[in-house]
Amino acid sequence: MILVTGGAGYIGSHTVKELLRIGYEVVVLDNLSQGHREAVLTPHFEQVDLQDQKAIRSIFKKYSIDAVIHFAAFSIVGESNLLPHKYFNNNTKNTLQLLDTMIEFGVLKFVFSSTCSIYGNPEYVPLDEKHPIRPINAYAESKRMVESILEYYNNAYALKSVRLRYFNACGADLDGQIGESHDPETHLIPLALKVAKGEKPHLNIFGTDYPTPDGTCIRDYIHVTDLADAHIKALEYLKSASGESITLNLGTGSGYSVKEVIETCREVTGHPIPTIEITRREGDPSVLVAQSQLVKDKLNWIPKNSNLKTIIHSAWQWEVNRRF
Ligand SMILES: NC(=O)c1ccc[n+]([C@@H]2O[C@H](COP(=O)([O-])OP(=O)(O)OC[C@H]3O[C@@H](n4cnc5c(N)ncnc54)[C@H](O)[C@@H]3O)[C@@H](O)[C@H]2O)c1
Repeated sequence: MILVTGGAGYIGSHTVKELLRIGYEVVVLDNLSQGHREAVLTPHFEQVDLQDQKAIRSIFKKYSIDAVIHFAAFSIVGESNLLPHKYFNNNTKNTLQLLDTMIEFGVLKFVFSSTCSIYGNPEYVPLDEKHPIRPINAYAESKRMVESILEYYNNAYALKSVRLRYFNACGADLDGQIGESHDPETHLIPLALKVAKGEKPHLNIFGTDYPTPDGTCIRDYIHVTDLADAHIKALEYLKSASGESITLNLGTGSGYSVKEVIETCREVTGHPIPTIEITRREGDPSVLVAQSQLVKDKLNWIPKNSNLKTIIHSAWQWEVNRRF
């Protein structure tokens, strides 16, 4: 049985779907603070808050858990600097408590949702895993601290982990069963599609004076089903004899500018998507693109659905027919 925390959320629910398809048994732990009950596709669901250690212990008693995939966290960058307490408590302290419970029950395989934002402002791109770690917000710091704890727990308690530093997760399940549904929504593609759908009058572009070909920020967009697939491969890697703890970038290695993404949204949806160009947002690096050779080599992972048109097409299908 695989325990998936945050399995009612965006990336978690897509990973659960893939785990079930392959034949894993899955229990989802989620407090539904951000997630959706309808997105939980396994019959085993525990509506529990990670800070409730008594409840977490009873989940470990109730199910025979082999490994944990840990998505549950808060992840709004701007909010994290205003409310660092919220982020360090949930993302760091609650994770530490979860790890301690795992060790108590002898569960020693852990897949962790980290983030490319722990690199801070890039010194060079594409970013490889050796790039210096310099978080510039409390969210990224809360994740860096967990990566560091995992290093010590690996050495002291043989807790093996795969730390996946995601770039920009996007797109939706190709069957249209689940998709992205954040409130508030802060991600570019769903926001652009809400404008296309007529739910919002226009889309803000934050900064058009970056040192990039069209002046807007460049990001590495990775389809959520490719992310899900990488988690399955990370689990299989941990089960193998050579499954030592490892940190991997999870991006495609290709970057698209904000304007390119919006233009593709216009093409896919056939809607004009009006934009308003405003000043830069604090803390947005001009380019974030992954060097993704290591994950390809170590997990034998290849992104299959991360072409921009496939991403936006699947997200649009979801936006038009969404169930939650
Ligand atoms: N979406 C991205 O582009 C992206 C990029 C980098 C890293 N990440 C990381 O990936 C993970 C998943 O991201 P997502 O976009 O799917 O987020 P999400 O908000 O959709 O999912 C997180 C889930 O965790 C649950 N949760 C939060 N705190 C909890 C708690 N204390 N107890 C129980 N459940 C709790 C929420 O209800 C939600 O269902 C997060 O850890 C995030 O930091 C996401």
